[in-house]
Amino acid sequence: MRLETEALGVRLQNPFFLASGTCGFGLELAEVVDIEALGGFVTKSVTLEPRVGNASPRVAEFKGGMLNSIGLANPGLERTKREKLPWIRDNIYRPQVLVSIAGHTVAEFFTLIEGLDSEDGFLGFEINLSCPNDAEREGELFALNPSAVAEIISGCRIRTERPIVAKLAPNDPDLSKTVQIATEEGANALTLVNTLPRALLDISDDVPELGAGNGGISGPALRPLGLDAVREARCATHLPLFGVGGVMTATTAVEYARAGAALVQMGTASFAWPRAVTEAIAGLIQWGIENRVSSWNDLVSRPPSTNASVNRLDLFDSIESSGET
Ligand SMILES: Cc1cc2nc3c(=O)[nH]c(=O)nc-3n(C[C@H](O)[C@H](O)[C@H](O)COP(=O)(O)O)c2cc1C
Repeated sequence: MRLETEALGVRLQNPFFLASGTCGFGLELAEVVDIEALGGFVTKSVTLEPRVGNASPRVAEFKGGMLNSIGLANPGLERTKREKLPWIRDNIYRPQVLVSIAGHTVAEFFTLIEGLDSEDGFLGFEINLSCPNDAEREGELFALNPSAVAEIISGCRIRTERPIVAKLAPNDPDLSKTVQIATEEGANALTLVNTLPRALLDISDDVPELGAGNGGISGPALRPLGLDAVREARCATHLPLFGVGGVMTATTAVEYARAGAALVQMGTASFAWPRAVTEAIAGLIQWGIENRVSSWNDLVSRPPSTNASVNRLDLFDSIESSGET
């Protein structure tokens, strides 16, 4: 099975990326993962100032997924330029790199783009409009505010010629509209979805398990939401989509392709097993042989030619269950 595909103006050796916040800036994973085997990766979201992140504990496991409230811990714009991007420039060859940026205000997104655009070694930007645990914004997501989405994407568009990818939220009641706005304002691709804000309770003292209270759900529990969001977005835009949320194996990636994602990102699976992504790449080739599918591109559902609307509760009738969860 041929895994090569094209998106964002470049050729990718396969559709697998590691998701923002789960692979640092690449070097943190270099000893445990064959990074050169990836289609690409998205860096940790970079903010203007360095951030130490939220109170611990910051992650909690539950059956079916993980809850995290890292709080955007990152080195900030200047140290990212000085310490992180040079490593990517000098050490990453085949995978494509997207630098994720997260502003606390609309203007901060623009300062971040202007500060990073002149650096070498990365393809484009993922605009994190959907970080659910940024304490300074008290849970208010840019992705859920149509005028903020328009302002941020159009402002980023005029500041860079690199591809920009808008990362949206799983709990957007009007996702089709948000997708259309991001498309009209000049995004080159969309990432669906970020984590979903919720909490877990420690029954020994009845307080939330995470230091910050709420966190974002990731892993298998997020997969139905990610698939649903991709399927809805597929009908609202012709842009390439990154499917994210519970991609653990080759067949979960196939599921996203059938929903309409041309590319996938893996996050939580790499925490459970750092080599999950390289095993999924090998597993996809094997899956193609067993199912007589000769290329990844053949699997990806295309946007409908008419302006069809989608029922978010529709089942995925074309997917054969592999028995995996
Ligand atoms: C520990 C952790 C940190 C994350 N940090 C970021 C981040 O900085 N920026 C971002 O856009 N998403 C972040 N995410 C969300 C992931 O990129 C991804 O959207 C989410 O985890 C769903 O994918 P998964 O189910 O494969 O983990 C983070 C997720 C985890 C688990």
